[in-house]
Amino acid sequence: MAKNEAVETSEAQIAVHWQEEEYVYPSKEFIEQANIKDESIYERFALDNFPECYTEYADLLHWYKKWDTILDTSDAPCWKWFVGGKINACYNCVDRHLENNKNKTAIHFVPEPENERIEHITYQELYVRVNEFAVLLRDFAGLKAGDRVTLHMPMTEDLPITMLACARLGVIHTKVFGGFSGRACADRIVDSQSRVLITIDGYYRGGKFRDHKKNADIAVDLSKKDGQEVDKVLIWQRYPGKKISSTPLVNGRDYLVNDLLKDFRGKRVEPVSMPAEDTLFLMYTSGTTGKPKGCQHSIGGYLAYVTGTSKYIQDIHPEDVYWCMADIGWITGHSYIVYGPLSLCASTVIYEGVPTYPDAGRAWRIAEELDVNIFHTAPTIIRALRKIGPDEPVKYNYHFKHMTTVGEPIEPEVWKWFYKVIGKGEAVVVDTWWQTETGGFLCSTMPAIKPMKPGSAGPGVPGIYPVIYDEFGNEIKAGEGRAGNICIRNPWPGAFQTIWGDRDRYISTYYAKYCKDKNSKDWRDWPYLTGDAAMEAEDGYYRILGRIDDVINVSGHRLGTKEIESASFLVQEVAEAAVVPVADEIKGVVPDLYISLKPGYEASDELAAKISAAICDTIGKIARPRKVWLVSDMPKTRSGKIMRRVLGAISNKKAVGDVSTLANPEIVDEIKKKVSS
Ligand code: PRX
Repeated sequence: MAKNEAVETSEAQIAVHWQEEEYVYPSKEFIEQANIKDESIYERFALDNFPECYTEYADLLHWYKKWDTILDTSDAPCWKWFVGGKINACYNCVDRHLENNKNKTAIHFVPEPENERIEHITYQELYVRVNEFAVLLRDFAGLKAGDRVTLHMPMTEDLPITMLACARLGVIHTKVFGGFSGRACADRIVDSQSRVLITIDGYYRGGKFRDHKKNADIAVDLSKKDGQEVDKVLIWQRYPGKKISSTPLVNGRDYLVNDLLKDFRGKRVEPVSMPAEDTLFLMYTSGTTGKPKGCQHSIGGYLAYVTGTSKYIQDIHPEDVYWCMADIGWITGHSYIVYGPLSLCASTVIYEGVPTYPDAGRAWRIAEELDVNIFHTAPTIIRALRKIGPDEPVKYNYHFKHMTTVGEPIEPEVWKWFYKVIGKGEAVVVDTWWQTETGGFLCSTMPAIKPMKPGSAGPGVPGIYPVIYDEFGNEIKAGEGRAGNICIRNPWPGAFQTIWGDRDRYISTYYAKYCKDKNSKDWRDWPYLTGDAAMEAEDGYYRILGRIDDVINVSGHRLGTKEIESASFLVQEVAEAAVVPVADEIKGVVPDLYISLKPGYEASDELAAKISAAICDTIGKIARPRKVWLVSDMPKTRSGKIMRRVLGAISNKKAVGDVSTLANPEIVDEIKKKVSS
């Protein structure tokens, strides 16, 4: 595909160009209590002090052995942090808090059904449950350091317990978003070569009970077809001891965790002292081809980065009650529900369900009951809450000191409602821009130091040096008013190490474009390409516009257009498929799918529904197209390439521009008529 075609159909192209907004300042009360109150942090993390500055984050952790080398660049651009250091992530998130805080709540688990009690799990209880499950993983499932295990679980406390048990043994966890299909789970099992799958019988979402066990059967069968045997499926139960899923167990393969645990009561296992550079987890994310990429995150560097940023940017203190509404199946949940907050000994909230279920007040009742004071969410949820309950927050007696938005650009109007109504004008807001690959925040204001600016993420966080390049590698300067490709000049400890099993793709996707010398071992020659378009204002604040590649961001979740297109080809009538992003009031962006059929097939509503269902089965409901448009042909260049730019313009009701050079310009009017009717 021609380079400019990808750029022209990107999210960035449909991004709104907001006005520069006025600064909003944090309150005196917030500044007084903040972990970081003065600008000197920017000096400590100046490029002149790189990479030594990052020992400030590493020093927040317990190390069995300190590192010999802070940053090893010998295998550029696979950067290695804290080499020679020995550490365990589970020890840092659990054991080390027992001495002073064993009776403090580590996890508040909030079930979606409101008539079920909230569970409060202390650090001591977490320690016991993690240990017992870790011994089970070791002795029953035969897992050891370096093995991969796939987790396909929803938002219950069993999920962090499972992750931490893996981390205790040095087992690499690969968490698949609970809403993904069995097929999507199978792809990740195969790529990570997992022979153990951990799942749950069922859970609640949006008032409905979801039978989740059936996805495990699909995942295991499909993995086998693709050459990866799963020999054990470990199934947590939403209600221990109760049968709620009607999907039968497979003899000799499926085991109920709660039955097995009876043999492991009171068992303990010492955390394994792991090399800092070993892998903590894989997190798959969508790329420009159909195959998701397994982002490989380290133990020491990652944990140091999420702990440091949780302390300084999330401003977490041990006495805080912290609620991040993300799903642990995404990177936000890994970094800023589980590892960051628990490493700092905070109380972290895990909510099973939909924030607006059963009504617009639910989230605020939870905040009130648990006395949440740090709140972390995404623009798509803020827009939904604003739409259905604009006056709801004021009815509840909760007070946030700090709020975060993440995942997609937030419109200034929505930001202001977030600040005034949800935050009651009391909470500082950080708009944090980052990615699955980056492990932690890249741009954000420092909450007590820099003022907020609605619609802008802010400058690079301490130690992160962004730069915007044009297509030719020229720097676009602050205040020029032009957008370009935002990159990061320097490595940082939270960054992923590589793509699991595909170093070449890691380099070609993230480093090749602006690499100054591919034989260089100097990090200065390897800017990291984020794949986002951005503009830098005169004050050094970055405004993120959206993706420049074939990835779209639906409700803050990344989906590859190629993944959706490939799924539609499972319907045998489909000849050609093209996905384009369409602006959406709540979700930010949604996919529109254009399909042309093989000769001899008739377009019908049933066929469109079948294609839509195939996508939900293959990826998950999150990828369901807004609309499947069955068209007689696609607009094409003379060389036969589908002009997604034209389809994108039609779906977004924008001018299609000059189409006279197309091979079939007449099709444009035909499609326009169909879409506008
Ligand atoms: O396009 C950017 C957008 O989300 C992408 C990363 O998605 P993912 O890897 O799923 O991680 C999401 C949570 C970190 C980015 O390339 N994005 C993320 N945060 C923001 C954002 N766009 C604008 N503003 C943000 N604060």
